[in-house]
Amino acid sequence: MSESGNPPRRGIRSFVRREGRITTAQARALEELLPVFAMPVQPGTTPADWFGNGNPLCLEIGTGNGENLYVNARTHPANNYLAVEVHRPGIGQLLLQIAAAGLQNVRVSTADIHEVLAQLPESCLQEVCIFFPDPWPKTRHHKRRLLQAPFFAAARRVLASSGRVRIATDIDDYAESILECLASAPGWRNLAGPGRRAPRPRGRCLTRFERRALEAGRSIHDFLLARGD
Ligand SMILES: C[S@@+](CC[C@H](N)C(=O)[O-])C[C@H]1O[C@@H](n2cnc3c(N)ncnc32)[C@H](O)[C@@H]1O
Repeated sequence: MSESGNPPRRGIRSFVRREGRITTAQARALEELLPVFAMPVQPGTTPADWFGNGNPLCLEIGTGNGENLYVNARTHPANNYLAVEVHRPGIGQLLLQIAAAGLQNVRVSTADIHEVLAQLPESCLQEVCIFFPDPWPKTRHHKRRLLQAPFFAAARRVLASSGRVRIATDIDDYAESILECLASAPGWRNLAGPGRRAPRPRGRCLTRFERRALEAGRSIHDFLLARGD
């Protein structure tokens, strides 16, 4: 695991970009709806400019098909949501749902989260959710795991002082490595207590990914973090 607060080493990514199967509707959504809902990247713009209001902003990283983000954005119209997912068919699926429901409180990005975090203004996020980051189970691939020191340093910069980070993983040794990383990463507080798991958040949807993990008999580890300043 990288112990530094530097960006990940060049070329080491937490994902492999595979377009995979994409439906005609998803492809059309990416063409027609992505320009409408994409997170603007002009320097100097703030989330309040993108949404036309200063409502609390929640970031979900690796939204998959967007099930959790869609339900939350629909249930909490007084919050704004930013979905970041490199798998474009998943973003296409989410775009179809938010357009059909007429949601105005969602923006999306298909960029690597490290690029997105670097573009966000300081302390702008009320919540950051990372549910079931890619497990990279082989030891030689652990360097690809997203939740390491560089991620925590970048996330801390953009989290509001009253903000929260929610994490869930079904991989035991990933959960252990997150705890180790937090123990040495400056400026974080584990709200369940040092070394402890948090209860499952009520608002987290049971995605297909989590259902499969449960069916395979794996335990789910939840974490709830805040800035420790
Ligand atoms: C295992 S899936 C979980 C999806 C969803 N959160 C769920 O619970 O069903 C992890 C997702 O994270 C995305 N991802 C991985 N690294 C990423 C990165 N650096 N930036 C944005 N998305 C990333 C992957 O494309 C993948 O869809």
